[in-house]
Amino acid sequence: MDGHTASSHRLTLQRAVTATTLIVLAVGAVLVAQQPAHRASPAGSVRSVWDGVYAEQQAERGLLSYRRSCARCHALSDGAVPRRFIGDAFWTAWGEDSLASLYTSVRNNMPADFPGSLSETTNLDIIAFLLQANAIPAGFDELTVDGLRTIRVARRDSDGSLPAGAFVAVSGCLTKAAKGWTLTSATTPERFRGGDVAIDAPRLAEQPAGSAAFDLLFGVSSLDKMEGHRVLVRGLLVRAPADGINVTSVQSLAGLCAP
Ligand code: HEC
Repeated sequence: MDGHTASSHRLTLQRAVTATTLIVLAVGAVLVAQQPAHRASPAGSVRSVWDGVYAEQQAERGLLSYRRSCARCHALSDGAVPRRFIGDAFWTAWGEDSLASLYTSVRNNMPADFPGSLSETTNLDIIAFLLQANAIPAGFDELTVDGLRTIRVARRDSDGSLPAGAFVAVSGCLTKAAKGWTLTSATTPERFRGGDVAIDAPRLAEQPAGSAAFDLLFGVSSLDKMEGHRVLVRGLLVRAPADGINVTSVQSLAGLCAP
C-alpha cells in the first residue's frame, strides 16, 4: 500500500463546486437515483428507528437527563429541543447511519465541558428522548447498547442514499477525464466520522468494485502518481450539479484498479 495523500481546503473546494459545470457521469447518477425505495434488511438483522426501538418511559427519563446535562448549552424552548437536533438537521447529520454513531458521538463528546461523564443508561435515555423529539414512535423494549449497531437511522421515506453534505468515504478507480479527476467503479459512499484509517482502508479495499461515479472536486491536486490506482477518497458528498466528492484526502489502496 502506498500512502500518498492529497489535501486541500474546503472553502476553496466549495467555491469550486459552485463554479463547476461538469457533466454528470450519467451511469453513476442513474444508478444512485434508482436505489430501491426501501433497502431489504439482510435476514431481518437490521432494524430502523421506526421499528419501536426505545420505550416511552426511557424517553421520559431522557428528558429529565437532557434538562440536567444538556439544556444549559442546547436549551429547550417550550419543552422542544433545539432545531439542530430535529428534522432536516437531524437526518442530514445522522441519517443513513447506524444509531451507534449518534450514541458514540454523544457519549464521547458530550457534555462538552465534561465529556464521557454520563452513564451508559443516561446516554441511552437521552438518545431515546432525541428519537422521540423527532416524532419517532416508541416500542415496548428499552434501547440497549447491544442493539445500537443494528438500528439504522433513516427518514421513513428514505431511498437509502446519503444526503449532500454528509462526510463520506468511498473507494473506486482514480481516473483522469477531460473534465478533471473522477472516481469510477466506485462503491456506495459510507458515512465517515473520523474512524481509524488503518482499519477502514483494508476493509474498503476488500469491497467489490461498485458502479457509481463521482467527480472529484479539488482546490489543489497532485494525483498523477495515483492515476489508475484503486483509491480511498474521503470528503463531503455533493449531489448537484453532479454526484461529486469535495475531497479532503485521497489514499492509494492498490496500484491497479481491476474492474
Ligand atoms: C457545556 C456545553 C454543552 C453541554 C452541557 C452539552 N453540549 Fe452538546 N455541544 C456543545 C458544543 C460546544 C458542541 C460542538 C459545537 C457545535 O456543534 O455546536 C456540541 C455538539 C453537540 C452535538 C453535535 C455533534 C455532531 O457531531 O454533530 C450533539 C448531538 C450534542 N452536542 C448533544 C449533546 C447532548 C445530548 C448533551 C447532553 C448529554 C450535550 N450535547 C451537552 C456544547 C455542549
